[in-house]
Amino acid sequence: MSLLQTQNLSCHFGGIKAVDAVNFTLNAGEIRAIIGPNGAGKSTFVSMLCGRQRPTDGRILLKSTDITDVSADKRTALGIAYTFQITSVFSQLNCYDNVELAVQGRLMRQSGSRMTRQRLREETCHQLERVGLADYEATLATHLSYGHQRLLELAMGLSLDPEILMLDEPTQGFAESEIDQFGILIKQIAEDATVLLIEHNMNVVMSLADSITVLDQGRILAEGTPQDIASNAAVQTAYLGTD
Ligand SMILES: Nc1ncnc2c1ncn2[C@@H]1O[C@H](COP(=O)(O)OP(=O)(O)OP(=O)(O)O)[C@@H](O)[C@H]1O
Ligand SMILES: [Mg+2]
Repeated sequence: MSLLQTQNLSCHFGGIKAVDAVNFTLNAGEIRAIIGPNGAGKSTFVSMLCGRQRPTDGRILLKSTDITDVSADKRTALGIAYTFQITSVFSQLNCYDNVELAVQGRLMRQSGSRMTRQRLREETCHQLERVGLADYEATLATHLSYGHQRLLELAMGLSLDPEILMLDEPTQGFAESEIDQFGILIKQIAEDATVLLIEHNMNVVMSLADSITVLDQGRILAEGTPQDIASNAAVQTAYLGTD
């Protein structure tokens, strides 16, 4: 089933066609990777999907409803959560408080005055545990390693209980050992959510993705299973740099 779709979606910055007339479909329940060389338009594309960047042309449909003009906040309420290439945690708050803020926002929306302190605490601890940060509850975000900051950001995204989780280079700054753990976590998340992942680490992409979209110069160069993409000659030339 098509969950999210773009029709001729474009974002031009002056003469730069960062994203150029992209027709894209994300299916419910899948893990989709978006790959492509630096400057291919991946971040711009996903920024438009979550509402941080306005398209210069085209449409975005969520379950057939046009959300092109819906704000980023409202898209979050519709079930789209994202974590970005640049970490966006509150550096002077500890891990617990960062996650609590995200949980609180959702519970307020869902339960209103029925939200209890205990429920807030339970959910906050659950999200911290889920990403492996339970022991860092009291640590200020600024004192976390870069990899742990990314996990904190992920916990904040998960706190929104999203239907679609978008991640822009989540494994950047991870140690090898953290990458394996991350893969297990993403598979768990994908049991209840659709995951859209921009990722440079090809091992992560090949082992996690159900399907891959390759962007190059603002356009879709290829789409398919990891096997299709690995053996696609155009992808090898444009992206992997081999003939
Ligand atoms: N706000 C902006 N103003 C002008 N140009 C921009 C802006 N944002 C992105 N671009 C340009 O648009 C193109 C696509 O950038 P984008 O960041 O989307 O690529 P990317 O695929 O995410 O690259 P990377 O792999 O390096 O993260 C690049 O040429 C970039 O310089
Ligand atoms: Mg990017």
